[in-house]
Amino acid sequence: MDSIVVTGGAELRGTIQIAGAKNACLALMPATLLTEEPLTLMNAPRLSDIKTMTLLLQSLGSEVQSLQDGRVIAMSSLGPINTTADYDIVRKMRASNLVLGPLLAREGHAVVSLPGGCAIGARPMDIHVTALEAMGAEIELRDGYLHAKTTGGLKGAHVPLRFASVGATENVLMAATLAKGTTVIDNAAREPEIVDLAECLSAMGAHIEGAGTSTITIEGVDRLGGATHRVVTDRIELGTYMLAPAICGGEVECLGGRLSLVTAFAEKLDEAGIAVEETNTGLKVARRNGRVSAVDVRTEPFPGFPTDLQAQMMALLCTAEGVSHLEETIFENRFMHAPELLRMGADVEIQGGTATVTGVERLKGAPVMATDLRASVSLILAGLAAEGETVVNRVYHLDRGYEHVEEKLGAVGAKIERVSEA
Ligand code: UD1
Repeated sequence: MDSIVVTGGAELRGTIQIAGAKNACLALMPATLLTEEPLTLMNAPRLSDIKTMTLLLQSLGSEVQSLQDGRVIAMSSLGPINTTADYDIVRKMRASNLVLGPLLAREGHAVVSLPGGCAIGARPMDIHVTALEAMGAEIELRDGYLHAKTTGGLKGAHVPLRFASVGATENVLMAATLAKGTTVIDNAAREPEIVDLAECLSAMGAHIEGAGTSTITIEGVDRLGGATHRVVTDRIELGTYMLAPAICGGEVECLGGRLSLVTAFAEKLDEAGIAVEETNTGLKVARRNGRVSAVDVRTEPFPGFPTDLQAQMMALLCTAEGVSHLEETIFENRFMHAPELLRMGADVEIQGGTATVTGVERLKGAPVMATDLRASVSLILAGLAAEGETVVNRVYHLDRGYEHVEEKLGAVGAKIERVSEA
């Protein structure tokens, strides 16, 4: 299994190209099931999660080709389509559940495995199920699988979500494009990935209004056509690399980054003493002066501070001056990076959903274990700031969401290498 070895202390200077968004791509790919015509995605990220979605769609009968070294994904779903999403694939990645809405819309029935426990919390599917039931689906849980069917197809409906779930909004949005009549999603998620999906579906011929707001209205159409769509920039990869010069010193420009993707996050960086400047090509980040200041952070659905940047932010605050509080409101068990940071000399105390971080002058390198995707990259960031060598083990989590992290950070001066064990 690979590990990443980081030697701390280097200042970072240069540019990092930010990839297309993993989470957008994982929602866009199942949209192929909504049409018999080709759907092509440009600016796709090269990640193992994308390979997992490729395998899932292929298992359902879609043709999925990776072109231009993985940057382009060309898909076609002529049929016949198999409507069972198997546990063996779904358990690897929760986003596999995004085939439920499209399969129901296209075939009128689907059998999709429940994803099962996830390291960062229970993550049930009740919001997806209640929403699709409101549209006329009958869904029951048997043998760990959701068995869903409709009589006479999905029907437009008023669909209020009890929480603005990203995945549930995406499932309903896709399902509603081919439903009979008008669907109104209330308390919809407003993430940029939802807007990106709506833009792609609209290019395919869907009638959607209000994506990016809490109320999305979809008027069902009889059929959708093909499209070529460019995947939006990955705001989580962007935020992660914005933290690198904030932690290490120096100045890095994240190419492709826009402030509108990370407004709440950039505000917190500003409060901590880090300057973020929007240029024609991206976002330039540098510390204003000296040590970073402590800040309080509360994770929230977009446009709030993203939960997917909480672990990385904690890595920054470990060496900030003063006491910071990080409140996690989206997932109930998302502080697994904290005990690893303690091994590096950090001072973090967890009470319920809040972490209290008292900044220390300097972290110290140590062998640490990656426990989930964002936790792993937070340990790399911490290692870049630490004295001596940090070895991050179990980096397969990292490869799910960050392409070539060692190359991107190495190119701006970080001392980082991947070590493969036979
Ligand atoms: C997506 C992102 C993930 C991010 C998360 C929150 C993808 C592929 N993944 O995940 O990186 O961390 O949004 O921004 O886009 N919940 C329920 N019942 C449901 C659905 C969700 O209780 O039916 C709960 C979850 O357990 C969690 C919270 O709602 O506590 C947020 O989940 P949701 O917004 O659905 O996240 P995902 O779409 O799974």
